[in-house]
Formats: sequence, structure tokens, C-alpha cells
Amino acid sequence: MPSLLDDPNLPEDAKSRARHVLEGCKGGSLGSYSDSAGIEIIRRHVAEYIERRDGFPSCWENIVLCAGASEGIRGTMKLMINHENGVKPGVMIPIPQYPLYSATIAEFDLHQIGYYLDESKNWSLDLAELKRAYDDAKSVCTPKALCVINPGNPTGNVLTRENIEGIIKFAHERNLFLFADEVYQDNVYAEGSKFHSFKKVLMEMGEPYNKMELASFMSCSKGYMGECGLRGGYAEIINLDPAVKAMYLKSISAKLCPTTLGQAVMECVVNPPKEGEPSYESFMKEKQGVLSSLATRAKMVADTFNSVPGMSCNIVQGAMYAFPQITLPEKAIEAAKKEGQAADVFYAFQLLENTGICIVPGSGFGQRPGTYHFRTTILPQPDKLKVMLEKFREFHSNFLKLYE
Ligand SMILES: Cc1ncc(COP(=O)(O)O)c(C=O)c1O
Repeated sequence: MPSLLDDPNLPEDAKSRARHVLEGCKGGSLGSYSDSAGIEIIRRHVAEYIERRDGFPSCWENIVLCAGASEGIRGTMKLMINHENGVKPGVMIPIPQYPLYSATIAEFDLHQIGYYLDESKNWSLDLAELKRAYDDAKSVCTPKALCVINPGNPTGNVLTRENIEGIIKFAHERNLFLFADEVYQDNVYAEGSKFHSFKKVLMEMGEPYNKMELASFMSCSKGYMGECGLRGGYAEIINLDPAVKAMYLKSISAKLCPTTLGQAVMECVVNPPKEGEPSYESFMKEKQGVLSSLATRAKMVADTFNSVPGMSCNIVQGAMYAFPQITLPEKAIEAAKKEGQAADVFYAFQLLENTGICIVPGSGFGQRPGTYHFRTTILPQPDKLKVMLEKFREFHSNFLKLYE
């Protein structure tokens, strides 16, 4: 590795960044343990990235680097564990949701409070439904936290600024800790949609909202990066009670540190080539190329599913997924029952066996009872995606013929 630092074939700005990271590592090597919250210089660069993004100060000591956002989310969720007189703390999560949340809530013996996203309004977050879910749950648990995934997985929705403001007010009135899962912040495609970070909106709202406890998460797994196996992520946690923060830092120190390679990847994400630097143009070309291709695919997927009888799909405003609804014939539902499977699981297996296409049934994410969905990604390259969608369409029409 050090010899690459003298390689004239590598751009000077890339080498200079690598040198900086290595200077921040103990013994000048990525092979050493780092501080449990991560390498200081990278945490400082994360804070600068957030400041550039939001236009509000970010303190590097509020940044914790983690092995993917998953580890950050789990580590922060642990803070909610506090069973008072046998009453479980409640954590509000969207339905449909990314299963990391339901799994972590179950593992930590917390109470899951599901709030349904509104499919009829492009999977937006309806405040009346949030209130309904909270009120229904408060007799069986102590609601402590509200998790929001924006842009959404599996739903592909992007929250409006107004919606986020309403959510912040809701959480403030009930003293809820906010989890903002913002791993898809670079993945926004639809016209009129824009990513607004919870931190920015909360800061713009001013007192008393800017004093609320908020943890927001980012990752190198998504966006234009897609470096999911390298396990890089960060959490920014603001307004945490100092005594709780001390315990939190103690708890993450028990696992020593997140992988230093993942930390170095986060450095690349938050400190990309700047205008005028040798790598800038090739970096921008690749970034914009990936994001604009994803935007084309997002549209292609939703348009195709909407043209299939018995399927309806919301606009994929962001993230990397579509979550279409399918109307399944009664006979297919009966056939699924005979197989001991949920109807959408049955459909997914039939699709896999007949076409080789793999989807995740909606029941894996949660859906309103009596409705059926599946999640698919927009990730295959456009030529492969086109072939896949055609096969899918053909399968669906045969499936309907068979069971109608
Ligand atoms: C909404 C959401 N949050 C968190 C994660 C986890 O990401 P990471 O690879 O950074 O752990 C994912 C991964 O799919 C996700 O979709």
C-alpha cells in the first residue's frame, strides 16, 4: 500500500487523501485499532460534510463511525432498552419497513409500534395514522422512539419538507427520540422530490425543536457508491443527555472499533474530489452517470408494472426499490393455503421457479391485511432490467390465466 502513494499513475488528490487518513491511524497503518467512535480525522470530515449539506454546524464529537448503518442503528436502539415495571419501551416504525427494525426490536425485547404508510398517497407518512398507532400502543408499552426511513425502503417514497416538519412536531409533543434513516439521501429521482435531512429541518424550525434528541444514519452501501460489503456508515447523534452519551460511548467501546477499511470508505464518501482537483471530473462523470441511470430505471420499473393488469405501482421517487401491489385471484390464494404459504410468498416462489426472477414478498416488510405486494430493486443494468420486466409481465399474465 505505501508504495502506491508514490505511484505516478494515481491522481495526486487520491494519494493526498490516503496519506491524511493514514496519518490519523495509530502507527500510520489501517491495520491498527481505531478509537471506538472512529478515526478522528474522518469524524471531522463527516461533520464538515453534514455542515455543507445542511448549512448548520455539526460537532465531530457527535459523529460515530460504524460498520454500516445497521450497526449504528442497532447501537442507538440499544439505548431504548429500559423496562419499567415490566412495561416494554415502544419503538414506532413504518409498515412496510426495512426488516432490520423489526428484528432489532424483537431481539432487544422492545415493543414494535407499526404505523402504516399511505399507499394511496405515494407511500407518504400520514400524521393521523402516526397518532392512531401511538394512541393504540400507549396502553401496552411506553413509546420512546420514532423511526423514519427517508427515502424509503421498500416503498421508494421521499418525504416532503412539510411532512418532516409535522413528524418532528409529533415527536416533540410526545418526547420521542427520533431515528432518521437517511442511507438513501443521494438516491432521489422524481421531479419535484428533494431530500431534506431531519437535522436541517429540525434546526430550521428553531426552538424548542432544535433541542430534540435525533440520531441520523448514513452509509457507503447505497447512493452512487454501492460499497455495501466494505461496511462503512456513520451516526450523527445530537442533543443526547451527557450521562446517556457517556454510557453510549462506553457500550460501543466494548466492540473495539468498526472496520478501519469501512471508515476509510466513509472518508471517500464525505470528502469527495473538489472542483479543480485532478480526480474531480472523472468522479463527477461516474457519480452522475450512475444516478441518472438509476433514475431512468426507477421510471422504467414503475411504468412497466403499471402497464400490467392487476398490478399498481407508485412512482419510485427515491431509494432503490419498487413495492407494487398485486391483485391475486381467489383460487391462487386457496392454492397458497394448501401449500401452507402466504399468498404473496406463493406468488414469489412461482415466479422464481418459472422465470428465475427473485422478488421479496410484501409480507417480509409488512403490509395492510388483505393486500399483497412484492419488492423488487431497480439495480439491474437497463438491458437486463428490460428483459427481466418482460419475463415478469408474461409470467403474471399466465399466472392470472391459470388461477382465474
Ligand atoms: C433503510 C435501510 N437502512 C439501513 C440499511 C443498512 O445499510 P448498511 O449496509 O449500511 O448496514 C439498509 C440496507 O439495505 C436500508 O435499506
